[in-house]
Amino acid sequence: MSGKIRKVVVARELLPAGEQLLQDHFDVHSGGLGAGRSELLELVPGASAIVADPTVPIDAQVLAAAGEGLELIANFAVGYDNVDREACRRAGVLLTNTPGVLTNATAELALGLTLAAARQIPSAELNLREGLWSGWNPSDYRGIELSGATVGVVGMGRIGLRYAQLMAGFAGDLLYTSRSVKSEVEQRFAARRVSLEVLLRESDVISLHLAAATENHHLIDREAIAMMKPGAILVNTGRGSQVDADALASALHENRLGAAGLDVFENEPGVPESLKDAPRAVLTPHIGSATFRARDAMAELVAKNVISVLDGNGPLTPVSPA
Ligand code: DGY
Repeated sequence: MSGKIRKVVVARELLPAGEQLLQDHFDVHSGGLGAGRSELLELVPGASAIVADPTVPIDAQVLAAAGEGLELIANFAVGYDNVDREACRRAGVLLTNTPGVLTNATAELALGLTLAAARQIPSAELNLREGLWSGWNPSDYRGIELSGATVGVVGMGRIGLRYAQLMAGFAGDLLYTSRSVKSEVEQRFAARRVSLEVLLRESDVISLHLAAATENHHLIDREAIAMMKPGAILVNTGRGSQVDADALASALHENRLGAAGLDVFENEPGVPESLKDAPRAVLTPHIGSATFRARDAMAELVAKNVISVLDGNGPLTPVSPA
């Protein structure tokens, strides 16, 4: 079938940097930002590729609705926990993601959350705006100083490594967990690979950089939090399912933890009230990759994956089958 008439479905919206490339090659149908499950099921029959994003569950029903011509799910994200990889494998459908291009953006947000949480910048700013600042006061707004802190990076992939580089200017010791030894961080930053338990017990700042996986569900639960140093800071820019939000909120209320900076939540866009009410929690709406550069590069990589696969040249950034 000629490329020009092949149907590509964008479940919601792809930015112009990718959308235009797709339009130049295919018959593109976009659901729009408001599209939900039923719109997707109506759109996909006959599609050769579907562009999904973290809010779009792709499962056996979607694959079956698309039909036998479906070759690819191109996820507009580096994470792919919205996709049932086993169902893709069974249906012979490839999956791609967008690694690399959002590394800096996400690590920079993790750095920003670390600083914002340590110094409680959002609430201090809000107080000022609301007229609650009565002038310089020696005991007001005291936060946590990062210089010399032991920094623990959970998951030393691309984003964890970039965060470690950015934090190296502050860090006293750098600890990390990873399935394999990362010689680059060990040589450059004298980082030490340790167990999660040692990392939790010794770090002043803990930042999560793990892919969503069932074994990571509530990795940071009540028990893990109990191991953390009093006054420690927890940062999460990975996936919300890795943290037991209620346990974290209790630890903040009880002043056992110093602060938290969270960009991801278990049931987005829902954010547990317990977290919203928790003191010293800085919460952002899943904006890790939200820079102009990263989001454009992600959209372009999504489109290039679709073009490459449908032209018979294979995926550029494949996700291995389940
Ligand atoms: C990702 O890419 O997985 C982020 O969470 C969304 O940009």
